[in-house]
Amino acid sequence: MKYALFTGATGDLGRCCIEEISKLGDWTVFAGGTNDEKLAQLGEIENVIPIRLDVTSDESVEAAYEIIHSHTYRLQAIVNFAGIHVFTSMVEGNCVEEIDRMLQVNVMGMVRVNKRFFEMVRIGRGRIINCSSESGWMTPQPFNGPYTMTKYAVEAYNDSLRRELMYLDIPVIKIQPGSFKTQLTNKIFRDFDKCIENTNYYSRILTTMKPMMTMELGLDHDPKKLAQKVILALTSPLPRTKYKVCTGKLLMALELLPDKAVDLAYKVVVHA
Ligand SMILES: NC(=O)c1ccc[n+]([C@@H]2O[C@H](COP(=O)([O-])OP(=O)(O)OC[C@H]3O[C@@H](n4cnc5c(N)ncnc54)[C@H](OP(=O)(O)O)[C@@H]3O)[C@@H](O)[C@H]2O)c1
Repeated sequence: MKYALFTGATGDLGRCCIEEISKLGDWTVFAGGTNDEKLAQLGEIENVIPIRLDVTSDESVEAAYEIIHSHTYRLQAIVNFAGIHVFTSMVEGNCVEEIDRMLQVNVMGMVRVNKRFFEMVRIGRGRIINCSSESGWMTPQPFNGPYTMTKYAVEAYNDSLRRELMYLDIPVIKIQPGSFKTQLTNKIFRDFDKCIENTNYYSRILTTMKPMMTMELGLDHDPKKLAQKVILALTSPLPRTKYKVCTGKLLMALELLPDKAVDLAYKVVVHA
């Protein structure tokens, strides 16, 4: 039996991945999250052991380590999917606290988990898989800046870790998903409306942008496509350094334009 620690297992994408990994039959997954009800549901899947794990807390990571270490002293993989999204202006509201919180979960959570479980991965001749996003490599969309900052940081962290751990023959792989309908994207709609209500400057602009955002986030990609890429990253004898999945076509087209042309496009579409 092979062992993986999977953070963000209680999320919509995490759960789908875990169901597919469980079907492989030769993996036991330690499924981490903080939502007790969802953890209990994960426990009903074969070869899944739910673990209470808050990636922002040293104590919680240590407690999870003790439980996992009582089952096995080696891991064949860590898969980091824990992540949050806050949609906010970068100059209004509680943006400093919100950006900090997002960095703590999306970036430092990953750093903390990988550091604590690294030795188990080394002993298990395993690999580390980090969930980034298309936001991690695309030009930032207006008002998605804070999330983009965290995913750019995930990219830099992932690539630096890969170039360090290659000397120990431990692959480090990133997953770069496009948009999937999940609790995370549902929250973006709620944050967007809150932003429109509370902004001093952007009410008209955000209202004009809303249909575009709804279209982009409304893309109903099948999360099993993502799970297939995660399984490739998990099992391939020669994994790639990164796996893109369901990349947004419109957003990708913008990548072909120079920065100033993209700025202009974003200005023109909202008639600013
Ligand atoms: N959905 C998309 O379109 C999309 C696109 C690109 C990348 N991604 C990335 O995919 C990953 C999963 O997202 P999702 O869409 O499945 O979102 P989701 O359904 O909201 O799931 C988020 C997961 O993160 C966990 N989490 C949040 N804070 C945590 C903390 N402090 N400690 C431990 N776990 C924590 C949640 O666990 P609890 O609720 O149990 O705390 C949950 O399992 C994220 O990294 C996200 O950035 C998503």
